[in-house]
Amino acid sequence: MPPAPPKQTIFTTMSALATELGAINLGQGFPDAEHAPELLAAAQRALAHKSNQYPPMRGLPELRAAICDYYGRRQGLALDPAQVVVTSGATEALAASILAVVQRGDEVIVLQPCYDAYIPLIERAGGMAVAVNLAPPHWTIPFDALAAAITPRTRLIIANTPNNPTGTLLTRADFERLGELCEAHDLTLLCDEVWEGMIFNGSAHASPLHVDSLKGRAIKVGSAGKLFSLTGWKVGWAVAAAPLADAIAGQHQFLTFTTATPLQWAVAEGLTLPDEWHDAHAAIYAPRRAQLIAGLEAAGYVVLPSAGTWFVTIDLAASGLPADDELVAERLIREAGVASIPVSAFYRDNALRGYLRLCFAKQEGVIEEALGRLAGFRTSI
Ligand SMILES: Cc1ncc(COP(=O)(O)O)c(C=O)c1O
Repeated sequence: MPPAPPKQTIFTTMSALATELGAINLGQGFPDAEHAPELLAAAQRALAHKSNQYPPMRGLPELRAAICDYYGRRQGLALDPAQVVVTSGATEALAASILAVVQRGDEVIVLQPCYDAYIPLIERAGGMAVAVNLAPPHWTIPFDALAAAITPRTRLIIANTPNNPTGTLLTRADFERLGELCEAHDLTLLCDEVWEGMIFNGSAHASPLHVDSLKGRAIKVGSAGKLFSLTGWKVGWAVAAAPLADAIAGQHQFLTFTTATPLQWAVAEGLTLPDEWHDAHAAIYAPRRAQLIAGLEAAGYVVLPSAGTWFVTIDLAASGLPADDELVAERLIREAGVASIPVSAFYRDNALRGYLRLCFAKQEGVIEEALGRLAGFRTSI
């Protein structure tokens, strides 16, 4: 008998239920319209006119150069293509990075709430996840608890900024402190930065690769799916100092080996679009975010402060609702026809149960309709 498969993710469960019930899907994070026609055209051109055979294992040189150029222009990072491994989505970059660093019996510190792939991937590598909890409303890193969680078996810390589900950001000061800990205990930092293009409060995105102490021991993970609102493309990458990048490439070659060649060409073209294009692309979501937050607040919901991603979270108890996110999510989809994601799904032990995540990457009419339903739900429950 094969071992029991991992539990189905909450995103799949909620999206399936939304389809079955005909609910508005503010659960899973994907846009309900195309916002990057330039990339669709580039992919069509690549399919028709460029190679459709295996690309180089570490990614097309043009894409790896474009990733370095993009991060140089947009984040002030000086990178070399030898530092880049192109993967099948950020998910594979996370998997290859964890497999490159973690061996049986190693401990990995995850900051919860955390994206739901981290812990299963750590366990698949034979490691043990050690959770350090972030607390609302600001979800800042509790550095004393983090330092106390480090043991001689700790190898890796996983961080995520902008954070899914909270939408909050880590700062350069956070990375300085993480750098001190990583240097002192010889740890690697894996930083999931897939939402780096979606920051709405004017803050600059901070990466561990901005900090000298982390340049040799941090892995930065990115995703074209998020940068271009093309979540189905599954083109991602890991960026790290060359020896670390070599170790990640070593794992990638036996995970997927390569990633769809025409999509790599198109993403390379997309990354070289002018800064104005990238700014305008992110700006598409700002009014939708403002609309969802304002509508929720007008309906009596308490929305937590956030700065990035396609999500906002609401505090159920402060909104006058039962502080049981699974129960509220279940009733919300069945009684009001709106899918959401309970934030407890981002905790290994469902440690925090009073918060719900809602996605605003939807058309304005859809958000309007959802807000009407949410308003009615709050007074009916
Ligand atoms: C924090 C985080 N990491 C990784 C991923 C996966 O990215 P990809 O679709 O490129 O595999 C997501 C997708 O939502 C995410 O939110």
